[in-house]
Amino acid sequence: MAFNVAIDGPAGAGKSTVAKEVAAKQNFIYVDTGAMYRAMALYFLREKIGPDDEAAIAAACPNVDITIAYEDGVQQVFLNGENVSGFLRTEEVGNMASATSGYVQVRKKLMELQKQLAKTADVVMDGRDIGTCVLPKADVKIYLTASSLVRARRRYKELAEKGISCVLEEIEKDIADRDCRDMHREHSPLVQAEDAVLIDSSDLTLKEVVEQIEAMIREKRSCR
Ligand code: DC
Repeated sequence: MAFNVAIDGPAGAGKSTVAKEVAAKQNFIYVDTGAMYRAMALYFLREKIGPDDEAAIAAACPNVDITIAYEDGVQQVFLNGENVSGFLRTEEVGNMASATSGYVQVRKKLMELQKQLAKTADVVMDGRDIGTCVLPKADVKIYLTASSLVRARRRYKELAEKGISCVLEEIEKDIADRDCRDMHREHSPLVQAEDAVLIDSSDLTLKEVVEQIEAMIREKRSCR
């Protein structure tokens, strides 16, 4: 049976960095579910559909085909056959993904794909609802968080390193807005699963977080 690790948490908590590292060390596949919501959001943006236009979003969903593939172990996301991986990490796409991921039609479409991926392969999957909805029986569940200031500083550094100019206060506000939307939406809100282990990474290094998760994987494997 495939071994599944679920990592959920708010924006900028370091989920993808941690998940990638754990997956590489354990020889698991890393599944970035946020990238799938971002690819759908990119479609809506390109079609000039507004984030509040639920009817247009529902009508557009059947026209969107999202698939993923791996190139040298790195997840690539395809939107109607086009590799859009390079267009997904902007604030505009992230905000649109946060706004449109609340619609049940969008979630239904992607959840099935995510469940299928985890059935046949050992995965580390990160997102908002992995431990609660997508993989409720995951072997290891983590809720990874950090203070909003620490998360904003990390995002600021990430953007600055890419040469994108930004203002720390604006990023902090953006993160707070995104948290609020992701946590208070009607469908699959971001919430810590009852059986998830909380890791606050505010004062931890990447190595320390990865080691904690690897220890949980070892323990779970030994009693499987
Ligand atoms: O993790 P991220 O920043 O790439 O995610 C972008 C948005 O997608 C996030 O604000 C909420 C949504 N999302 C979701 O609703 N469920 C997931 N499993 C992953 C992401």
